[in-house]
Amino acid sequence: MSDNNVQIFDTTLRDGEQVPGCKLNTEQKLIIAEQLDNLGVDIIEAGFPVSSPGDFKSVEEISKIVKHATVCGLTRSVENDIKVAAEALKYAKTPRIHTGIGTSDSHIKHKFKSTQEDIIERAVKAVSYAKTFVEDVEFYAEDAGRTDNEYLARVCEAVIKAGATVLNIPDTTGYCLPHEYGAKIKYLKENVKGIDRAILSCHCHNDLGLATANSIEGVINGARQIECTINGIGERAGNTALEEVVMILKQHPYLNLDTRIQTEMLYGISQLVSDSMGIYTQPNKAIVGANAFAHSSGIHQDGVIKNRETYEIIDPKDVGVTESAIVLTARSGRAALAYRAKNIGYELTKLQLDEIYTSFLDFADKKKEVDDNDIHQIIEKSKVYREIISA
Ligand code: KIV
Ligand code: ZN
Repeated sequence: MSDNNVQIFDTTLRDGEQVPGCKLNTEQKLIIAEQLDNLGVDIIEAGFPVSSPGDFKSVEEISKIVKHATVCGLTRSVENDIKVAAEALKYAKTPRIHTGIGTSDSHIKHKFKSTQEDIIERAVKAVSYAKTFVEDVEFYAEDAGRTDNEYLARVCEAVIKAGATVLNIPDTTGYCLPHEYGAKIKYLKENVKGIDRAILSCHCHNDLGLATANSIEGVINGARQIECTINGIGERAGNTALEEVVMILKQHPYLNLDTRIQTEMLYGISQLVSDSMGIYTQPNKAIVGANAFAHSSGIHQDGVIKNRETYEIIDPKDVGVTESAIVLTARSGRAALAYRAKNIGYELTKLQLDEIYTSFLDFADKKKEVDDNDIHQIIEKSKVYREIISA
């Protein structure tokens, strides 16, 4: 792995699937896992094997079919979880066990009723035990976002010594501001002995809408893995959206950070996940929402028709969307009407366009969006219809 490569760790099938009411069956998970592998993700977190027989089976079946990506299973710092995960991953070409424990004061006091030293001991034990099954062991310090940096550094140092290959620094509650999350990663890079033997990973939740910004700050400050889900699905407000972080790195080449993602597959896989889970993607969702490449105001439409780059920073084809959409509403101008009329076979002169534009505005004030059929009707009812079709 080159130093500027950012590993994409997809957790759609684990953290993403924790969306209430959106459980996937094994067959649906296999279809998604195959597409994630084709998309080029580096790691697929396939599930939490000890949590249910269904999850165990899904992780086992996914391990059999994935050709390129590392397949990962989640565990708590509990021996039986780790043993069961290793069993579920036994067919994987490159297996990874993802184990960890809460490290914030809140988790230590309320969840574990324990002490900082005891948590480090449990963390080390879990990593050492996982190492008896697989080489690649990722450790998560749950609620690292709210964990004191000095203590977090001690936890990281101890688990690296025990053999952890990846250190996951989750902002579990989505609390951090981007500069704080970036500073946390930088602090660990600079203060953890042995950090060069491990990869730092960003795992950000979106409770304040900052998951993507925090993950990007993380990689700018030295992390080299981002944990994310398709469409940003996940518990509560969700996880970092895969399509967003990937396109941010692609559209800002001066950051000198690359991924292996085949971006032209992003729209298709977004639809697949949304259909399989029955979760509707908000129309204004960045990159994959229905309106991400749609233009409806006259000023923007005029610009885009002249040159797409006036109002678009991404070529829709780069993410698998066929073309930008010029949507006709009462806010649209003549340029947009002429463009859409031309697409369905009417070449309008300036005078004809003026004549039809008035009827178009009357119509558009009554209907939210004017479609091709409506354009036909408006033109057919106009005084200039004969002139237009005989031209
Ligand atoms: O958000 C979180 O802390 C997690 C861990 C279990 C990795 O999902
Ligand atoms: Zn999470």
